[in-house]
Amino acid sequence: MRILNFGSINLDYVYSVEHFVQPGETILADELQIFPGGKGLNQSIALARSGIPVFHAGMIGEGDDFLIELMKKAGVNTRYIRSSRESRTGNAVIQRDQSGNNCIILHGGANQRISREYIDEVLSDFSEKDFLLLQNEISNMAYLMEKAHERGMRIILNPSPMNEALRSCPLRYVNYFILNEIEIAQLLGGDEKREEEQIHEMLKRFPSSKIVLTLGKRGSLYAEEGMDYRQDIYPAKVMDTTAAGDSFTGYFVSGIWKGYSAKESMDLASKAASLAVASAGAEPSIPKIEELEAAFPSS
Ligand code: RIB
Repeated sequence: MRILNFGSINLDYVYSVEHFVQPGETILADELQIFPGGKGLNQSIALARSGIPVFHAGMIGEGDDFLIELMKKAGVNTRYIRSSRESRTGNAVIQRDQSGNNCIILHGGANQRISREYIDEVLSDFSEKDFLLLQNEISNMAYLMEKAHERGMRIILNPSPMNEALRSCPLRYVNYFILNEIEIAQLLGGDEKREEEQIHEMLKRFPSSKIVLTLGKRGSLYAEEGMDYRQDIYPAKVMDTTAAGDSFTGYFVSGIWKGYSAKESMDLASKAASLAVASAGAEPSIPKIEELEAAFPSS
């Protein structure tokens, strides 16, 4: 049983600001830092640092091979990563405010160069025994889901960012959804609902899926047919929330892969997220399993 993460690789330009810029306003950033990032890269690194094998497929621009080296060093199998001649590595412009909250603008770059031929080539090495982990920062998502489903792979989707293109993907093939409050509201549409109602509506729409809903400081919810569960956060001094969701996703998937129950996997994921928010940047903030075990000795 292997995990293939077909996902984005970005460079994050993180601007520390007093507050998020408003329409028509110009503000001065206190600091600019550049970090490796991308939900794909972050989640692969979280999986590798949690101690399990992960294959990453995705595209970078020419000249950014240091990102591949960094992933390799973290323990990610990078044999399927390719370089694009036509596009630069994807990037994110991130504003980080004084409370550690962020807002993100993405430029897809090479992440949007994922072709059907490349997908076919990578998927031909995987089978019904394997998991496919996806976010929504690369091109040809619908094709990827169709082809993975045809091969019997189990699909885990973090529908982030949520957009029209994703709505028209064959979401019925998804075995696990891991999403936040904004994404679930966008996916369901309609009236504003309480989180418990939202997660049950998701289950109604996707009865054979398992749903994980992350709620920031308010913890997270898990639901599958006949069972639901609320997980509290492990409180931390928040420095930067970037990649907290990716650490959560990586560690949750790691728990499932290790055969933990959903409850145990949610607990592990919450511990990882609590360590991630306490340090700056995306990739650098993703904890190693040893750090997690040291911080939470009963883990
Ligand atoms: O989840 C955080 C990530 O979202 C950042 O690293 C950024 O690149 C965007 O993909």
